[in-house]
Formats: sequence, structure tokens, C-alpha cells
Amino acid sequence: MRLAPPLQGGFRKAMTDFIFNGFFIPKSWKVRYLCNSTHKSGQYFSEPERFDPSRYEGGGPPPYTFVPFGGGPRICLVKEYAQLEILVFMHHLVERFRFQKLIPDEKIVVDPMLIPAKGLLVRLFPHKG
Ligand code: HEM
Repeated sequence: MRLAPPLQGGFRKAMTDFIFNGFFIPKSWKVRYLCNSTHKSGQYFSEPERFDPSRYEGGGPPPYTFVPFGGGPRICLVKEYAQLEILVFMHHLVERFRFQKLIPDEKIVVDPMLIPAKGLLVRLFPHKG
């Protein structure tokens, strides 16, 4: 969700004139935020290219830096549900199977969401007993 967020970012419409980082944004302009501007920033995530789930322990990242579900009043409506569903799926997968990717270095393509280019084929090996 941090390294390859399904959605790359989102849009907001300026409700009023404002200045951000020295740039003047007029009322009614659309502005786009990109997840990677914070997700891949060493300022908020040390060694940003490294997969390290322990980085979310404790307080976790500062607000509005981990934004695969957006943020603010229009944040994804089912953020908690989507994360729970992923967790339940992964739990049952690793509890029941060992698995091996058939294409180890399969590319991720944008179509328009990020997806494995060949459909992420895996071979499942049920745990014994
Ligand atoms: C991993 C799965 C998902 C991701 C990464 C995701 C991500 C997002 C993002 C980035 C936004 C825009 C938030 C913003 O502009 O601040 C959004 C909005 C939304 N998402 Fe999701 N989403 C996921 C799954 C789902 C699912 C399964 C549903 C419905 C069953 C859903 C329903 C919605 C709705 C209704 C909105 C619009 C909320 C609003 O504008 O008030 N999302 N989602």
C-alpha cells in the first residue's frame, strides 16, 4: 500500500485562494496530490524503498504521509473494511499454504491501477496436517 499504492493520488478543488510552498493556487483550480511524494520520501519513511511492516508499530507515520486511501473528509469510505479484507485473505493464505511465484521478477504495470503484468501466478503448497 505504501510502495505500490493502487491509486497514485487524487484531486482536490481549491475552495479559496491560498499559497502553498510559495505557489499561489487560485480558487476553483484543481490540485493533484501524489502518494509517492510522501510514501517514497526519506523524510517520513527511513529507507523508503525497503518493505518493513514494523515501521507502522507505535505511533506510525505522521498524519497525511501514508495516504493510499486519501485523507481528510473524502478519505476512502471503506478504508477499515478494505484493510480488514486484505488482512483476512493474507491470514488464511499463509496459514494454509506455502506459495511460490511462478514468475519471480514479474513486472507491475499501470492499467490504470497497478497490477501484476501476468496476473501473479502462484503455485500453492498446502501445509501438512
Ligand atoms: C485497497 C483498496 C482500496 C484503496 C487503496 C482505495 C483508495 C481510495 C482513495 C485513494 C480514495 C480517494 C480518497 C480521497 O480523495 O481522499 C477512495 C475513495 C472512495 N473509496 Fe476507496 N479504496 C479501496 C477500496 C474501496 C472499496 C472496496 C470500496 C467500496 C466497497 C471503496 C469505496 C470508496 C468510496 C465510496 C470513495 C469515495 C469517498 C468520498 O468521496 O467521500 N473503496 N478510495
